[in-house]
Amino acid sequence: MQVVEAHGAKIPAIGFGTWNLDGETCARGVAAALDIGYRHVDTAAGYRNEDRVGEGIRAAGVPREEIFLTTKVAPEELEEKAFLASVERSLKLLRIDPVDLVLIHWPSKTIPVADTIATLNKVKQNGWTRHIGVSNFTVKLLDEAWAATDEPLVTNQCEYHPYLNQDKLRAACFGHGMCFTAFSPLGRQVVLQDPIIVALAKKKGRTPAQIVIRWDLQQQGTITIPKSSNPEHIRSNFDVFSFSLDDGEMAAITALSKTHMQRVANPPAVAPDWDTK
Ligand SMILES: NC(=O)c1ccc[n+]([C@@H]2O[C@H](COP(=O)([O-])OP(=O)(O)OC[C@H]3O[C@@H](n4cnc5c(N)ncnc54)[C@H](OP(=O)(O)O)[C@@H]3O)[C@@H](O)[C@H]2O)c1
Repeated sequence: MQVVEAHGAKIPAIGFGTWNLDGETCARGVAAALDIGYRHVDTAAGYRNEDRVGEGIRAAGVPREEIFLTTKVAPEELEEKAFLASVERSLKLLRIDPVDLVLIHWPSKTIPVADTIATLNKVKQNGWTRHIGVSNFTVKLLDEAWAATDEPLVTNQCEYHPYLNQDKLRAACFGHGMCFTAFSPLGRQVVLQDPIIVALAKKKGRTPAQIVIRWDLQQQGTITIPKSSNPEHIRSNFDVFSFSLDDGEMAAITALSKTHMQRVANPPAVAPDWDTK
């Protein structure tokens, strides 16, 4: 399994995304992913499925120490007391303590970054998580976060796929020694219809999703967390280690964002002033 390292964290390069998965579908999906070989699972308090994610992890029977588990604190819970209570609740629902990574899910629009980062530091110092990081932070917010933190921030989890150029933000993450976690890596299916990606998939005898996931994996410091509720997609999305894209193929996919700029996750109530509009 390919692993990305940052500030002492060793994070499997493919994670199983669980947004929009609930009930039995979630528990079964997590268990199936772990059976296939995924060793990284991404959830959040806001997904309201942590109990089912924990259930899936236990059902798979993979030793806990082999699994990298991320959860997140919702933007409405970033005041210190609510923040700490949110993480304690996550650990209880998951029935896993500690987790590997706790992220601030979206930056607060009202509480200063220095305050939310101070609480995030406490979460690590309390022993509730091995690592901490952020999500949906811009270059400016990252700089503020690093100025305020005592503990290293290992990743910034942000939207990234062939239709969304994130060069500036990615460079800022690497400048801070962080890795970059790509969420909605399939552009919620939008990029899978792209003619260039479809043609590449045909040429290489792969699915469009495999082409896009492979494109992520061949980029420096990049983790990708595709979500699926479909057992065949869960399996094939992980079957990406026996082929590669050459420089021309990588460049053709990267060039798509020049003509197809598109953001799929942009909730106005929480979205910051993006580096890439
Ligand atoms: N930090 C954040 O703010 C944030 C925001 C969004 C997402 N995330 C995380 O990132 C994860 C992934 O993002 P996402 O769920 O938004 O989108 P995504 O992974 O880009 O796309 C998921 C969609 O693609 C489909 N799909 C998956 N594999 C496929 C395949 N091989 N062929 C065809 N379709 C396929 C899925 O349908 P099926 O279920 O039918 O396969 C689903 O409709 C989330 O689950 C969550 O863990 C984080």
